[in-house]
Amino acid sequence: MQEKDEKLMEKVISLCKRRGFIYPGSEIYGGLAGTWDYGPLGVSLKNNIKNSWWKKFVDGREDMYGVDAAIIMNPSVWKASGHVDTFSDPLVECTKCKRRFREDQLKEKGKCDDCGSPVGEAKQFNMMFRTQIGAVEDSSSTVYLRPETAQGMFVNFKNIVDSFHPKLPFGMGQIGKAFRNEITPRDFIFRVREFEQMEIEYFIKEEWWEKYFEYWHDEMIEWMESIGVDMNRVHELEVEKEDLAHYSKRTIDFEFDFPFGRKELYGLAYRTDFDLSKHNLIYQDEETNSKLVPHVIEPTFGVDRSVLALLVSSYKEDESGEESRPYLSFKPSIAPVICAISPLLKNKPELRDYARVVYGNLKNEFGRVMWDDNGNIGKRYRRQDEIGTPWCIVIDFDTLTDGSVTIRDRDTGKQERIKKEDIIEYIKERMN
Ligand code: GAP
Repeated sequence: MQEKDEKLMEKVISLCKRRGFIYPGSEIYGGLAGTWDYGPLGVSLKNNIKNSWWKKFVDGREDMYGVDAAIIMNPSVWKASGHVDTFSDPLVECTKCKRRFREDQLKEKGKCDDCGSPVGEAKQFNMMFRTQIGAVEDSSSTVYLRPETAQGMFVNFKNIVDSFHPKLPFGMGQIGKAFRNEITPRDFIFRVREFEQMEIEYFIKEEWWEKYFEYWHDEMIEWMESIGVDMNRVHELEVEKEDLAHYSKRTIDFEFDFPFGRKELYGLAYRTDFDLSKHNLIYQDEETNSKLVPHVIEPTFGVDRSVLALLVSSYKEDESGEESRPYLSFKPSIAPVICAISPLLKNKPELRDYARVVYGNLKNEFGRVMWDDNGNIGKRYRRQDEIGTPWCIVIDFDTLTDGSVTIRDRDTGKQERIKKEDIIEYIKERMN
């Protein structure tokens, strides 16, 4: 990692912890590798990402069906899907210190990342988390935590067809947790053991696959732009035939220039009829009065990687003043807090009471509104800039006489005076 990027990563991680976005998992017990906890601002950011995705890809369409399937599924699902046999990474062990690594992620090929000694031969390590279901612990009670949300949709394919009678093409969408026992979780929330996915399985006739692959490619890009991913950092990788997942005939990875390197952000795969065939699922085509196994285009998005890509895309430092001013330039639709309300002076009841009324109205309208009367006004602006709040509204003595407030823009630091009745319209106009 270059020094500049290393610094950027350190700044993002420290901001996340300090300001309540993301904390190390189980921190007071020394943490647990590969797990992170989202604080209030992180949850809000994550929810805004998920809501934007659901609105565009599920609620905004006529041909999509949302589901929320169980995380623990019948183990036969994972046998049929190929995950029991092939969902593994190459594991190597250091011959001296016995630490274990993923072979393809070693800093130097064949050498231990920790002590530099040679590593042994690679063994395949299945990444699914195993647990037991029920009171008896034997091999028949072994179940897995799902490593992808996709199978929760495939197993409900028949239910959706029976309940809604959709015509091809149509899709299913799901947002939910997935679990992978990563050998080397690393890079903050990039590679973790418990994460969230947003996935679409789009069912088509085989002869349409190229058309819909292109279609979903463009939809994915449009959504990334809409939430504010820095598209200069996004690159497409056509996955080589020998590197394709066991179910895929074609995959494009959307990679992102993270501070620690260019890595996969999202994926788009043509899963053929692999999954529905494995689950013995068919579709009755009423137009041709024939049975067929639909093929599948799968756009897949990681929620946590979206959060990280947005943090990296948005982190800015304004150097125009005496002191550097760090801020997150989130789009208002994605920002954890849309606006913050402050009385100019905390200990003046007339300012405070007035500000509480303005706060109440805005909270009713936008929900993501923060009351902030901690420290002096400069400190409040600094804090709100750092968490990416697009507007700060201050109630001062002029407000009491003429009903006007100051509204400050996060990116420029400029302030305007507007009438308190116009605040909602002012924000709505800029949000759209
Ligand atoms: N259903 C297809 C599938 O699961 P994948 O490329 O293995 O494909 C999809 O995962 C997305 O899930 C990735 O593009 C990434 O955004 C996210 N993802 C995968 N493993 C992850 C991990 N260990 N930590 C965080 N996100 C992960």
